[in-house]
Amino acid sequence: MGVKKYYLPDNFILGAAASAWQTEGWAGKKEGQESFIDVWYKSNPELWYNGYGPAIATDFYNRFREDIRLMKEIGLDAYRTSIDWSRFLRNYETAEVDEDAAEYYDSVINELIKNGIEPMICLEHYELPALLLEKYGGWGSKYVVDLYVKYAEKVFNLYGDKVKYFFTFNEPIVIQTRAFLDSVRYPFRQDTKTAMQWNYNKILASAKAIEVYKKSKYNGKIGIILNVEVTYPRSLAEHDVMAAKIYDLFFNRFYLDPCVKGEIPVELIEILKFHRCNFEFTKEELDIIKNNTVQILGLNLYTPARIKARESAWNPATPFHPSFYYDKFELPGRKMNLSRGWEIYPRIMYDMAMRIKNEYGNIEWLVTENGMGIENEQKFKNDDGVIQDDYRIEFISEHLRWLLKGIEEGSNCKGYMLWSFTDNVSPLNAFKNRYGLVEIDLDNSRNRRIKKSGYWYKEVLKNRYFEYKDFTPEYI
Ligand code: BG6
Repeated sequence: MGVKKYYLPDNFILGAAASAWQTEGWAGKKEGQESFIDVWYKSNPELWYNGYGPAIATDFYNRFREDIRLMKEIGLDAYRTSIDWSRFLRNYETAEVDEDAAEYYDSVINELIKNGIEPMICLEHYELPALLLEKYGGWGSKYVVDLYVKYAEKVFNLYGDKVKYFFTFNEPIVIQTRAFLDSVRYPFRQDTKTAMQWNYNKILASAKAIEVYKKSKYNGKIGIILNVEVTYPRSLAEHDVMAAKIYDLFFNRFYLDPCVKGEIPVELIEILKFHRCNFEFTKEELDIIKNNTVQILGLNLYTPARIKARESAWNPATPFHPSFYYDKFELPGRKMNLSRGWEIYPRIMYDMAMRIKNEYGNIEWLVTENGMGIENEQKFKNDDGVIQDDYRIEFISEHLRWLLKGIEEGSNCKGYMLWSFTDNVSPLNAFKNRYGLVEIDLDNSRNRRIKKSGYWYKEVLKNRYFEYKDFTPEYI
């Protein structure tokens, strides 16, 4: 099998991503500045792998200069992180800014720019202030939507002149799906209607923040980051295709359609009405959503969804869940990341690229996350203590070449951001699965050390190409 050079297109952004809560730690946080994630961790630290969590995380708050030095050494084009809403404000009702936090974020942004790294800033990566959950039910409340917009406005005022990429949310569907639909995460309530209202309210909040951003005519772009799953039916039989369409409707189109096209799918509203869990909306809100679609789209792509028609009977006593219409399907022979339990199917990059081109007006988009979390990476250390993560290099190469194929065929993708720059804290899994180009050594004061993949990324960034196996016809 031959080896081929895969060239990055001109101006293609090759970077890495993270979030505030997964890296910063609680240093500098004041009383009353807890986030949703903070209280989740405090309520059940024993559920978090080996007890690690957001309390110290990677200590980025104290060590960001060191990390940015490493980013520069590797030569990243861009770095995405979030602003922790709960840290950024002193008063969530009046949007009074915490001056220390504002200064900290200003320093991070300046340091990135000074080192030639484009900052990309997300406004919410599960960092909803805990107080707003307690007092108003969090994203179930439209009042909280308006408080978020006030917060967003403060961020734009302070950093809008230097940050060229803003994102309103990271994976807005996740929290309520896991917490209220599946009831497997804090606050462990099963309430489908609430989950659906949270979805809708976040779509509205995103549109309202975009409206505010656009009014000030900053010289940048604003979008949203969605964890879309390329959805494959088990077979082309009508029942499997229909099941996959419904899965796609609930887990992809719920956000993609309003955020990119300005419209919530009518079929979705009908199904929800039928099951008596529709969200509440007004005509004025729908107009705001229609008129404030995203200027750029961020997509987190990790694993496909494989779906078949439901096989077991539905128990009528079970509250409505979209899986009323489908079951998950495991492809025999699939390749797995066993540490994370996710199927590896690099073709999702190409299939999503084509979908965005053909069904979503070929909007400008970025891969805002893709990556591979691996357990016990220590065992891959060589004699010099450098993790030899060839599997990660292979994973990135495979995904990138499928993405480049999509771009060659006209998809408007402008970049790829690896999850993640350093190892960091995952929800519940904490430091179990390591994602970074840079190791965080928990046994040695969280020291940083570049892994083999980090050196490889550096070469790709310098050469603007990478070498990898040529595509074989069977594989395509
Ligand atoms: C994305 C999130 O879903 O995937 C990140 O935006 C997360 O916050 C990443 O860390 C990897 O998933 P996990 O659950 O292994 O951390």
